[in-house]
Amino acid sequence: MSRPESGALGGKLVAAAVADDDAYYQRLKRLVAGRSLPLMLLDLDRVEANAQAMLRRAGRLPIRLGTKSIRCTEILRRVMALSPQFRGLLCYSAREAAWLAREGFDDLLVAYPTVDTVELAHAADALRSGKRITLMVDSIEQCGLIAAQAREHGACYRLALDLDMSTSVPGLWFGVRRSPVRDVAAALEIASFISANADTLQLVGLMGYESQIAGLQDRVPGAGLRNLMIRTLKRRSLREIHARRQAVVAALKAAGHALEFVNGGGTGSLEDTAADSSVTEAAAGSGLYAPALFDYFGHFRHQAAVFFALPVIRRPAPGIVTCTGGGYVASGPSGPDRLPRPFLPAGMKLLDLEGAGEVQTPVQLPPGLAPGFAPALGDPLFFRHAKAGELAERFERILLFRGERIVGEVPTYRGQLQSFF
Ligand SMILES: Cc1ncc(COP(=O)(O)O)c(C=O)c1O
Repeated sequence: MSRPESGALGGKLVAAAVADDDAYYQRLKRLVAGRSLPLMLLDLDRVEANAQAMLRRAGRLPIRLGTKSIRCTEILRRVMALSPQFRGLLCYSAREAAWLAREGFDDLLVAYPTVDTVELAHAADALRSGKRITLMVDSIEQCGLIAAQAREHGACYRLALDLDMSTSVPGLWFGVRRSPVRDVAAALEIASFISANADTLQLVGLMGYESQIAGLQDRVPGAGLRNLMIRTLKRRSLREIHARRQAVVAALKAAGHALEFVNGGGTGSLEDTAADSSVTEAAAGSGLYAPALFDYFGHFRHQAAVFFALPVIRRPAPGIVTCTGGGYVASGPSGPDRLPRPFLPAGMKLLDLEGAGEVQTPVQLPPGLAPGFAPALGDPLFFRHAKAGELAERFERILLFRGERIVGEVPTYRGQLQSFF
């Protein structure tokens, strides 16, 4: 977040930002005019600009697109076509990866472990069809169950090891609770189990996702002390986790495990991930849509590119309108930051007592809306989701636009009748 500007220049910048918001609102309104609401829409120019910015931020690293943050095959295709630096997909379920393989995608890394027999059967099908699909493991127990399914299907599963990248400081776990593999010894133990089962399992990669760097905002307005603490923890954590990832990669290689890739990072950490010489590729997706939870990182700002439009249907009181739909709340620790963020017209607020509702969402309008900006019944108000891909679970189609033109309407995963957990 940039600092508030002061003086004449600051006043001009604020006025320009307000004019930009107003113009963008009027444009969005024209684009959805005459369409049935609610709907989800995506600004292709902004997604492409975000994609280029992410590639620049990733520097030497190719980016594997995180599908959970996109959930639309057409957008995956369009973004991958922008640059060969977009390489491969980071999927969230084996069944999803197998479906994407049938849709024509390849090099599919499933980022989260599964021992579900149906999921593993789908992965075996994809392997049999010649696609490169890789499963994630973090324990010998998982490997044993996957090996049993491999024998069942006559398959040899490609595996990647999930290395925990959290940092522990007294009284605080700075990271996520996912993989128990935190050091060289634990990694080598699982790797040698995989080698001992070479007829059914093959270790091909390592993933070390530093979620506390990649997903945690550090310039949230009004949270100065917390921001300072998070930035300090991030600096400390980075020193430790780079050394950990490098040590594990070196030890695996020294023990004869040839790794095809070492994956790390996410939208919020691309520069830091590229600074770790052991990493060969970054994973990222959210930066393309730039949802609300990515607004306040100190070192980058991507452009909000995906919105949903809700129709005004009631006027319960002066200054308040109520829209149809809108309760698209994001996953994670529940709190106001997981609610949809009112976007345009600028200055709208959700009501504390109601938030975004299951079928109705009241909104406090900004005082003194200029003529032409007070919404009539049926008019759209625009919102942003807190996270990237989850919004696609609410809509079957995404309206794509460029400038003043609608250039397509494409199905989400849901619109293709796909839903993975
Ligand atoms: C394993 C893994 N890698 C990378 C990411 C980063 O994805 P994004 O850039 O969409 O935040 C995530 C997000 O949760 C993840 O779980």
